[in-house]
Amino acid sequence: MVKNNEKAFPEGFFWGGAVTSFQTEGAWNEGGKGPSIVDARPVKEGQSDWKTAVDFYHRYKEDIALFKEMGFNAYRTSISWSRIFPDGEGEVNEEGLQFYDDLFDEMIANGIQPVITLYHFDLPLALREKYNGFASREVVNLFDRYARTVFKRYGHKVKYWLTFNEQNLVLTNPDFWGVKLDGAENEEALKYQVTHNAFIAHAKAVKSLHELVPGGQMAGMVTYMTTYPNTCKPEDAIANMKAKELLVDFYFDVFAHGEYPSYVTSDLKRKGIMPQFEEGDAALLKENTVDYLSISYYQSQTVSAEKADGKWLISGVTPNPGLKTNEWGWAIDPIGLRVCLKDMYARYRLPIFITENGIGVREELNENNTVEDDYRIEYLSEHINQVKLAIEEGVDVFGYLTWGSTDLISSGGSFEKRYGFVFVNRGETDLRDLKRYKKKSFDWYKKVIATNGADLSSKESVSVK
Ligand code: BG6
Repeated sequence: MVKNNEKAFPEGFFWGGAVTSFQTEGAWNEGGKGPSIVDARPVKEGQSDWKTAVDFYHRYKEDIALFKEMGFNAYRTSISWSRIFPDGEGEVNEEGLQFYDDLFDEMIANGIQPVITLYHFDLPLALREKYNGFASREVVNLFDRYARTVFKRYGHKVKYWLTFNEQNLVLTNPDFWGVKLDGAENEEALKYQVTHNAFIAHAKAVKSLHELVPGGQMAGMVTYMTTYPNTCKPEDAIANMKAKELLVDFYFDVFAHGEYPSYVTSDLKRKGIMPQFEEGDAALLKENTVDYLSISYYQSQTVSAEKADGKWLISGVTPNPGLKTNEWGWAIDPIGLRVCLKDMYARYRLPIFITENGIGVREELNENNTVEDDYRIEYLSEHINQVKLAIEEGVDVFGYLTWGSTDLISSGGSFEKRYGFVFVNRGETDLRDLKRYKKKSFDWYKKVIATNGADLSSKESVSVK
């Protein structure tokens, strides 16, 4: 457990939590919302569907009051595109726009800045059916229309934006971008075309934000898994470097430098699968780089050249005997976060916003209607401490958001993996009463924020200066 070293974070540092629309809101068919690809996902037997989630749509005032009590000054969520344009391209839905107006007003009235993701894996379903999602340039244009609509509406309320959540998953999970690969002549070529289309959509959104919102700040975001070579063998070092290039560097290089790196183009040209650049694409990327970089960070990976088979994005992943894992096998590695922050800052010199970090655990209320989640306090304090050390070592980090604030549905569609400071009383399929209960970590995070990160300890009472 981290000892209190009495040093605080920079003044104005952002503290809070992060979620998405579809993992919290529920109300999947209310307020004029159209179906998204999430609503059409098959539900695994015994698991939750997405229809109610934690009912944030109806209970956001109660939840925001709890976030205020913890001292949040930032909260990240996403806008559901299909609340704004139910079929992705037709008439705008005023009721959907009004919902986010009310939500952002409530946050701001409680001292909480909205940090908004434009797209978190939830394409309007109609755009998958009609265009095969981001495989089509038409969807890129529709995304820009949607982005411009929300910038015009909320630009005076929201300063910090993110285009795509974890854009580096596009190669492994094109389905998150509404793309079906079946029937493609060359699947790899199609995946890279979708990757390119997502870069173009991203760059257009950066351009539109800067045109429409003076002072608006746009990030490119990736899920960052720090990678290590399994041994000091040069073969492992190269395998590790190649894994990192495709997993992380490719995306940040385009976001920050505005052009494809040669370690990617050399490979694509050799294979004859360079994506099709339309006229103006190269200039668009070059002229519309980001204002800050954003990451989610949960775990590190270790890469062995011997095991590398080129099948997954990080090929050759092998367990790291020096690290414990969570119940889902994710290696817990706080120092890996510092490695990541230092590397990012050295490469790009852009401010960094950590917009997801946390641990999912199976939990139930105890007889005192709370959860003694010391493991979460330990996980978060260790990670925050590494952020603090990175800042001391010169890295410009300006905010830290935990994944979840209340519990929420996990990305795989299950409710058993809980992340919040606030327990939501529902089961996998049994919605119970959806009441909110503070976990032990609630008061701990409140103290961390009140001391601006100076006190990360788990002792019960502290004097807040
Ligand atoms: C990130 C996503 O990958 O990790 C979230 O942005 C997701 O949508 C989070 O919920 C945690 O992953 P999981 O699978 O535990 O929900």
